Amino acid sequence: MKREITLNINDRDETLVVDDAETLLEVLRDRLKLWSVRESCGVGACGSCTVLLDGRPVSACLLLAVRSTGRDITTLEGLGDGQLLHPIQEAFVSERALQCAYCTPGFVLSVKALLDEIPNPSDDEIREYLSGNLCRCAGYADILRAVHLAREKISRAPVKPE
Ligand code: FES
Ligand code: FES
Repeated sequence: MKREITLNINDRDETLVVDDAETLLEVLRDRLKLWSVRESCGVGACGSCTVLLDGRPVSACLLLAVRSTGRDITTLEGLGDGQLLHPIQEAFVSERALQCAYCTPGFVLSVKALLDEIPNPSDDEIREYLSGNLCRCAGYADILRAVHLAREKISRAPVKPE
């Protein structure tokens, strides 16, 4: 069955007609062309399709679009300041915590949620929080360093970036 829904994505309302079976991932990529949201496993196991739902990381491949109404959805396109990278993105670049970068949008959003929730996380807390995000080519040690650098950048920022 098809129905009209309104989704709040990156602080903008998007109204569209979707099938009940369409996932949030399909809507974000195929209809709204938000290419940062990536599909890999399609079964909630890799974190490539991570988006923030009311600030918490979720796998968009597991979520039906019709169940996402009335929630704040954030994709990587919603971070940063247009031309400027978000401090978490800067940290990933500085620490070379990406190679092919297929996994990176999902990691960056999970790190955003982590640092919002735990501003000064331990290594174990970082590993635990990011355990749902898999990377097949960059080193996890680099990603760990990037999280710490992002934490420093954010703590030094005069206004906490959204
Ligand atoms: S594509 Fe959604 S978790 Fe892997
Ligand atoms: S940088 Fe290639 S999968 Fe993570």
